[in-house]
Amino acid sequence: MKATLCDKIKYTREIDGTMATKASELNYDRYPNNKYDYEIKMVIPGHNNLHKIIETVVKRDYSKMKSIHILELGVGTGLTASKILRHCPSAQYIGIDFSEQMLKGARKRLKKYNSELILGDYAQVNFSKNNNLVVSVIGIHHQKTNQDKKNLFQKIYNSLTSDGAFLFGDLVTYRDKEEAALNDALHFHHLVENTKDEQSLKEWAHHHKFQNKLAALENQIDWLKEVGFRKVIMLYRKYNTALIYARK
Ligand SMILES: C[S@@+](CC[C@H](N)C(=O)[O-])C[C@H]1O[C@@H](n2cnc3c(N)ncnc32)[C@H](O)[C@@H]1O
Repeated sequence: MKATLCDKIKYTREIDGTMATKASELNYDRYPNNKYDYEIKMVIPGHNNLHKIIETVVKRDYSKMKSIHILELGVGTGLTASKILRHCPSAQYIGIDFSEQMLKGARKRLKKYNSELILGDYAQVNFSKNNNLVVSVIGIHHQKTNQDKKNLFQKIYNSLTSDGAFLFGDLVTYRDKEEAALNDALHFHHLVENTKDEQSLKEWAHHHKFQNKLAALENQIDWLKEVGFRKVIMLYRKYNTALIYARK
């Protein structure tokens, strides 16, 4: 019998007493780039709308800046980066991802830009301190503990210029248990409606149920404020998907 995804989950690396997730444990690392590119847009509720809002913000705030440094955490195949960089094609862009498989796609997609792609765990890689914009879309929810997420927010804050901003799109849950349950049900319903076959449904439902480590949206907004962000605004929300704009 074939091993299930569940059998493959082994948390083997330890940071500060908690076991950190490895790239090889996640769907992304074993999906061909074209399968990932097709499926991620289908399985993340609001993926398209969230990116439209990111583009609007980038066009408004960054497209006219002469010199801009952008850092992205969890680049994947470069879907988010390509939407950003088309509005500021001369930006100095650094993207970090711990999946070599995902970075293969990003290398192709981003080669026409000033892009540097780093293979590594963003929780461990040192960030430069000159970023005008840090972005992460569907890239932080695998941080296992609340403290891991909060530490990362602090590291992001410290890496920004004095007027820098963090565009943070991710899967979240809610403090209120009924709200959390409702939005989880809606997320699974979205998966049932939008995956192309039972195998794909099984993989993404497994991913959501066992691999996503969601933190409450309200808590994450509080943590962003606690680490120093002055202005924290929710720009978009659909079920468990949310987009937050945090300004230093
Ligand atoms: C779902 S993709 C999102 C990419 C893109 N924003 C999109 O929407 O298609 C998230 C990426 O984050 C990466 N990732 C997750 N945790 C990471 C970590 N701790 N360090 C580096 N990359 C990480 C995964 O390998 C994956 O490629």
